[in-house]
Amino acid sequence: MAETSLIIYKVFLCFFFGFVVLIQSAPQTALITKIPGIAETLPSKHYSGYVTIDQSHGKNLFYYFVESERNSTKDPVVLWLNGGPGCSSFDGFVYEHGPFNFEAAKTNGSLPQLHLNPYSWSKVSNIIYLDSPAGVGFSYSSNRTDYKTGDLKTASDTHTFLLKWFELYPEFLPNPFFIAGESYAGIYVPTLANEVVKGIDAGIKPILNFKGYMVGNGVSDDKFDGNALVPFAHGMGLISDELFEEVNSECKGNYYNPPLTDPCQSKLGKVDEDLEGLNIYDILEPCYHSPEIREVTTASIKLPSSFRRLGETERPLAVRKRMFGRAWPLRAPVRHGIVPTWPQLANSNSVPCTDDEVATSWLNDQAVRKAIHAEEESVVGSWDLCTDQITYYHDAGSMIPYHKNLTSRGYRALIYSGDHDMCVPYTGSQAWTRSIGYKIVDEWRAWISNGQVAGYTQGYENNLTFLTIKGAGHTVPEYKPKEALDFYSRFLAGEPI
Ligand SMILES: *[C@@H]1O[C@H](CO)[C@@H](O)[C@H](O)[C@H]1NC(C)=O
Ligand SMILES: *[C@@H]1O[C@H](CO)[C@@H](O)[C@H](O)[C@H]1NC(C)=O
Ligand SMILES: *[C@@H]1O[C@H](CO)[C@@H](O)[C@H](O)[C@H]1NC(C)=O
Ligand SMILES: *[C@@H]1O[C@H](CO)[C@@H](O)[C@H](O)[C@H]1NC(C)=O
Ligand SMILES: *[C@@H]1O[C@H](CO)[C@@H](O)[C@H](O)[C@H]1NC(C)=O
Repeated sequence: MAETSLIIYKVFLCFFFGFVVLIQSAPQTALITKIPGIAETLPSKHYSGYVTIDQSHGKNLFYYFVESERNSTKDPVVLWLNGGPGCSSFDGFVYEHGPFNFEAAKTNGSLPQLHLNPYSWSKVSNIIYLDSPAGVGFSYSSNRTDYKTGDLKTASDTHTFLLKWFELYPEFLPNPFFIAGESYAGIYVPTLANEVVKGIDAGIKPILNFKGYMVGNGVSDDKFDGNALVPFAHGMGLISDELFEEVNSECKGNYYNPPLTDPCQSKLGKVDEDLEGLNIYDILEPCYHSPEIREVTTASIKLPSSFRRLGETERPLAVRKRMFGRAWPLRAPVRHGIVPTWPQLANSNSVPCTDDEVATSWLNDQAVRKAIHAEEESVVGSWDLCTDQITYYHDAGSMIPYHKNLTSRGYRALIYSGDHDMCVPYTGSQAWTRSIGYKIVDEWRAWISNGQVAGYTQGYENNLTFLTIKGAGHTVPEYKPKEALDFYSRFLAGEPI
């Protein structure tokens, strides 16, 4: 049942017994008491359930809330959003920075083993994983017309969710509040931040203590993102100097909307040919295409070990060789209008470059769904990492004006990029952050984690920071969990990274 209707029910009961009790804290019905797959006691409280954002439509968004393992009273609250459009934020929970490391089941039909994640973002923050928009992950609507949506509607729905969520958890209202996300959430985050700020300006209650936001390998602007690939491919040594010079002069440096001339198109075709077969989420990782073998042993990977190590972590589950976020074929950046989801693009349910087995088996297990208060399959269907049941419009345009607006009003922004991602390459994010024209206050320098260079950063006025994570792919904390927790903690604390 939706949390809000539960609360109404409780208040009603209170009236019935002749007294009014104001519900002042986290709803106890949302508390998770036992999680299949882990024997240890949880290091902090976990809550999950639905918030009804449109009663008449029966539109319900699912969240999973992890309290901070440090000091939940004082630590910030962060909303986490994965992209797609159409991908569940359990991607972040299972594969990136959630409280558990998942170890694949050893035998068929059994559940993955869960271990505590020493680099969970809940070490330093309270974090809400939200499935959005309705139709994604465990979120759903009883009125299917809601599955046709876009940027602006999603932002206003998520704002409604936040207002209702904080009504359910009012003790977290004083904590600093941040919004974070990755990939297509490069659109979700600034558009939602804009709604939040508008709400604060208009005095809409509850007043959110909004401080800033983070975007990782985020879609931002069709022109900058569309022009990012060719320079990336050249800088990474994937295309020759000659081809780089030729494609540049034939297409006049315009890859976002290239001239339809034969020479430009044929040079671009050559670029595609050179990049074909690479894993676009991390060019150092192997990639397999259906119907070939799904997994190989490390021994058969041909990368030199020094390169291989870039993708290795201390986790029991290796980084995914296959996955999908909002990915699009090379040279097809997100543009105004309909944005096909991956399953729609691939025109099939077997999407190339996906590995969602651990999450899929865990989140479709009946005991797990019951434990985390997810609706039954008869109501919400099976859980998919990325769904094709939504029709999604990119209708918010470029994010650059949003970033300008938010940062000039004092909200802090961290724009970070795994520097080996070819899906939303760092070259685009670096170029658009620079294009805003803010004064550089912290000139390009290495940033350090664990005594090592972990990447590079450039700081601009108005607390706009661009950051790379060396050797990381599209989903940064999946590849570099320790370094990710480091920059995340420093950013939230308002410290230099
Ligand atoms: C947590 O932070 C609050 C607010 O700063 C403080 O009053 C409280 O003592 C802290 N709790 C612990 C266990 O440190
Ligand atoms: C596990 O089950 C799947 C589907 O039922 C089957 O294709 C696969 O071969 C099984 N794997 C093992 C190791 O038994
Ligand atoms: C679903 O929503 C649409 C748009 O608000 C409305 O016109 C329609 O009547 C609704 N359908 C049902 C079954 O409630
Ligand atoms: C900035 O955003 C606010 C709402 O948050 C809006 O009222 C204002 O018009 C925007 N300013 C610009 C220059 O876009
Ligand atoms: C930047 O952020 C810090 C830490 O929150 C804050 O003290 C400072 O006022 C901010 N600067 C600007 C220009 O907004």
